[in-house]
Amino acid sequence: MEIALENLVEKDLKYCWHPFTQMKGAKIIPIVRGQGVYVWDADGKKYIDAVSSWWVNVHGHSNRYIADKVYQQFLDLEHVIYAGFTHPRAAEVGERLVKLLPSNLEKIFFSDNGSTAVEVALKIALQYWELEEDPRDTFIAFEGSYHGDTFGSMSVSQRSSFTQPFERHLFNTVVIDTPTKDNLEAVKDQLKRHLKENKIAGFVFEPLIQGVRGMAMHSAELLDELLEICREHGVLLIADEVMSGFGRTGKMFACDHLKNDPDLMCMSKGISGGCLAIGVTAASQKIYDRFYSDDRTKSFFHGHSYSANALTCAAVCASLDLFEKEETWSGVNLIGRKHVEFVNRIKSHPGVSEARSLGTVLALELSTDDSTGYFNKAGTNAYDFFLEKGLIMRPIGNILIVAPPYCINDQELDYIYQSIEDYLNYSE
Ligand SMILES: Cc1ncc(COP(=O)(O)O)c(C=O)c1O
Repeated sequence: MEIALENLVEKDLKYCWHPFTQMKGAKIIPIVRGQGVYVWDADGKKYIDAVSSWWVNVHGHSNRYIADKVYQQFLDLEHVIYAGFTHPRAAEVGERLVKLLPSNLEKIFFSDNGSTAVEVALKIALQYWELEEDPRDTFIAFEGSYHGDTFGSMSVSQRSSFTQPFERHLFNTVVIDTPTKDNLEAVKDQLKRHLKENKIAGFVFEPLIQGVRGMAMHSAELLDELLEICREHGVLLIADEVMSGFGRTGKMFACDHLKNDPDLMCMSKGISGGCLAIGVTAASQKIYDRFYSDDRTKSFFHGHSYSANALTCAAVCASLDLFEKEETWSGVNLIGRKHVEFVNRIKSHPGVSEARSLGTVLALELSTDDSTGYFNKAGTNAYDFFLEKGLIMRPIGNILIVAPPYCINDQELDYIYQSIEDYLNYSE
């Protein structure tokens, strides 16, 4: 295939603006091909995509099976308005997801990405309480959480340099610490106090693992204790599985580790195998029924031009086919097993202040005296080091993250671990 590679980066930088990037001095790598865990740059250098391109890719790049299904779908129907119309792949996504989801989630609502999946959940929750004639205006969220970049999803996220310019426009959210064995009773008290002092619409949480916090982890048992209290107070449980869903934590959903089912669940990233943008918010029948009425003003007034796009839905169905194959889960299990071994081997290295893993996700906190958080130099240096080695790592602050596509093999994982050890020894 002929690709105009000359001046690609120059052209890109002349016309395009990149996400989460200070464009002054931005270093952009032109990628022209992907296959499995690898992507290739314009000079032919190959990289292992060790972070699945922002944790979206689960079956590998340019997956042939998904590509064929999307292509076939294009020949039949590429898109149709999803208000007043449907198509076979949308209904199939609904049926298949509902069968896989925690059992009280029985309806799905389509949007475009992770932030909108959360935005939709927040709007459904607020309108639900309006319809209940018990209006509630506040959400509870975890310290350090990240739920997206739209105004609602920013409002329930940790305030930081990401949100600072928009602060005046964000709604108020009450925050509780993530639970540990040591602070559990204090967090329960915090939660009970907020439940007493505010009209709480819902508790929004990233179950078991907070991605942008740096893959911070908390136990299912402790989280369940907090969910139990929310349940007793009739607060809606809103699980943000945008990152944790579709195998990342070793099970299909992080909520599958919990005893309490959520009332609303947000999905994106891995849902389409990581190749086409989509958000899905699942809701319980009880919530859905509150909107179900002869009165049209009680409809849920939210939608996107591309809601339930047929190509994207075909990609979701193809990805779900691949999740029915044993090899996908043996990949998930292999990564999980090897991450645990590596954590045990590396955790006492002086360059590491903490090492942890859950399912396919590994996080290593680099020892550092730089307290600039997200902008930590240790992370920037590590990023460049790993690129040299042909690894896409993109640390968060001083935290190295490995969350590869599930088709990665033993040798490729060993190469990642070895490169991390080389980095730790080199930067000592
Ligand atoms: C837990 C969580 N929620 C929401 C989002 C936002 O998703 P998107 O980037 O698709 O808008 C992210 C993105 O990293 C996430 O990790």
